Amino acid sequence: MSEKSWGGRFEQDLDAQAAAFSASVDVDKRLAPQDIRGSIAHARMLGARGVLSAQDVERIVSGLTAIASEIESGQFVWDPAAEDVHMNVEATLTKRIGEAGARLHTGRSRNDQVATDMRLWTREACYASCARIDALLSVLCVRAQQHLSVLMPGYTHMQRAQPVRLSHHLLAWCEMLERDRGRLQDAARRMNLSPLGSGALAATTFPLDRAQSAKELGFDGVTHNSLDAVGDRDFLVETVAALANCAVHLSRIAEELVLWSSQEFGFVQMSDAFTTGSSMMPQKKNPDMAELVRGKTGRVVGDLVSLLVMLKGLPLAYNRDMQEDKPPVFDAFDTVDASLTVLAGSIASARFDAARMRRALGEGFVDATELADYLAAKGVPFRSAHHVAGRLVKTAFDAGKTLAQLSLQELRAEHAAFEADVYLALDPEVAVERRALPGGPARSMVSAEISALRDRLQARGVDSQAIATRFGVITEP
Ligand code: ARG
Repeated sequence: MSEKSWGGRFEQDLDAQAAAFSASVDVDKRLAPQDIRGSIAHARMLGARGVLSAQDVERIVSGLTAIASEIESGQFVWDPAAEDVHMNVEATLTKRIGEAGARLHTGRSRNDQVATDMRLWTREACYASCARIDALLSVLCVRAQQHLSVLMPGYTHMQRAQPVRLSHHLLAWCEMLERDRGRLQDAARRMNLSPLGSGALAATTFPLDRAQSAKELGFDGVTHNSLDAVGDRDFLVETVAALANCAVHLSRIAEELVLWSSQEFGFVQMSDAFTTGSSMMPQKKNPDMAELVRGKTGRVVGDLVSLLVMLKGLPLAYNRDMQEDKPPVFDAFDTVDASLTVLAGSIASARFDAARMRRALGEGFVDATELADYLAAKGVPFRSAHHVAGRLVKTAFDAGKTLAQLSLQELRAEHAAFEADVYLALDPEVAVERRALPGGPARSMVSAEISALRDRLQARGVDSQAIATRFGVITEP
């Protein structure tokens, strides 16, 4: 399509550099299925309203359906000179069916067309990402169930702090992911209004039935202001913000896998399938997939910033700047989707080293809080009890002992309230089990949370065990 097709007021073709600079079809051809669905709904509605003849509608719908299947099978020839996906499809349709094709754009602008396409595409992408989050949740749910008895140190400031269950830690990751999922659902719901009928900016004189095309496209209703409908992309900001949040969560999970798989921790062995070797050092088994999940997070945060900066300062309504919404949106989804899947595979196939985690509980005085709580329960003010426990940590540290290796006499030297039952309190198993508040690491609480997660997934039609199996979850400890 020559750029002179912009009509009567143009005498010259678009400069070649300008055409190359402004063409977007290489990127936005990804919207073709949504674009065609939108056009079919628009044409049918025009037919129902008597704006198009039944025969024209028939030609348009079958022409577009044929184009859609050619695009799907890769046979469609894209013309870079036809600027974008909308013009490629329309020009091809018109070439094939003649005048009927040229009538399709009645009462429509590319501005409301692209706003519709992006809402349709993004809505579907949100649901697809939610399904991937569910897959990772399924893997984590199964692994948490498998390792319910495994204790490990919990950390603050990267220092061993108090004992928890490995399952409790895995379920913390699930909480993050559940919220990410909720944010994507919210975004998908809020964007689900049809802009069709907004025209270029001021609606149209044709008697469109906006509700009809909206319904056919699965929208919950129609937008309420034509300027806003074509002139904002906040629904993309919101979506990519949710994705950035998710990417940051995945990055933090990945960071823990990197740490845990180091020799220093040794809490987990990543499988061969998700690690790489070194070209120089034969002993190396590097957690590259986790590192890349962590590394790619920067792109998603960048995608969010790109969108925000692109929108800042734009006057109403549509501005061509908005064409730049697509690369960050597509990239954010591609990156997060791939990261979710590779993490699900990595975690399904990882071997957790329960003995090593247990040994880590023996160092670092993670039972010091138990000493303080023990005294506080006997009526010693907590601040004083904390001080006593701190002194005992120093005593033990200087003597090269654990707290449990201090004699009752040594304990009593700091406070007379210590009795023989204090050693029971120092057992990590006991320490964890005594934290039996909702949201705590006690077995009953964690077990209930695992069931609740499994039920939640089930209610969404997700069989967590089947999905974990598909990701090759290992069954032995
Ligand atoms: N490719 C354009 C975009 O993505 C489509 C809308 C073009 N509208 C216009 N008035 N030039 O934003």
